[in-house]
Amino acid sequence: MNLKYRKTIIAGNWKMNKTLSETRAYAEALKPQLGKHKWCEVVLCVPAVNIPGAVKLFKDTRLAIGGENCHYEASGAFTGEVTVEMLKEVGAKYVIIGHSERRQYYNETDLTVNKKVHAALEAGLRPIVCVGESLEQRELDVTEELITYQVKIALAGLTESQVRRVVIAYEPIWAIGTGKTATAEQAGAVCSHIRGVIRKLYGARVARAVTIQYGGSMNAKNAAELLAQPDIDGGLIGGASLKPDDFMAIINAANQEA
Ligand code: PGA
Repeated sequence: MNLKYRKTIIAGNWKMNKTLSETRAYAEALKPQLGKHKWCEVVLCVPAVNIPGAVKLFKDTRLAIGGENCHYEASGAFTGEVTVEMLKEVGAKYVIIGHSERRQYYNETDLTVNKKVHAALEAGLRPIVCVGESLEQRELDVTEELITYQVKIALAGLTESQVRRVVIAYEPIWAIGTGKTATAEQAGAVCSHIRGVIRKLYGARVARAVTIQYGGSMNAKNAAELLAQPDIDGGLIGGASLKPDDFMAIINAANQEA
């Protein structure tokens, strides 16, 4: 991470976990430990229905709440979907876009990711855009090409000041929920590659300002090593964000690194 130019962001991705009462118990356990994370921003992305409750529970802290998905249209006949304005109005500050589970199970494509990124930024939400290769793609040695393609399309048509507000999460699909983490060198190399892609598109100043996270079995034990990589500016954390103590340990690792 490089605090001179960009913010470290530790974000939890709760996926389809925790009811509102479970969220309350979590907040009660985490809140007394929070407050000292002055070096990094802390975010919890929770199921849409629990965003208003989570915003209320964390109101007196610096922890921000985010959504896990959004639609790109402003309204319409899209049963079951939520708009960026709906997320914004209930207090979300971030939204995850293009998570590999959404790409895999709900047919999200790079083009819909791009539309969602535009919609989120226009509503004033910060998008956390997920990119990453499958094991097969890594073995075929096309990781860099694939990531370049995903990043280029996700950012297509954005202005420089919009790109500065985008967070990119590099999440190798083979490391998500598998307990198999990319090595710090593997993760760091792809995050550097992503910054290089942004540099080519928008110049060095913008590239330096963009927060690039690693995600995929990040936990209390491996966080410090991953975060020590110069181009890894935080994490998108699934499983380990569900336990307040584990999540706090990752936040502390980010603070120590600073
Ligand atoms: P994981 O999930 O930390 O459980 O691997 C990360 C993610 O999917 O964002």
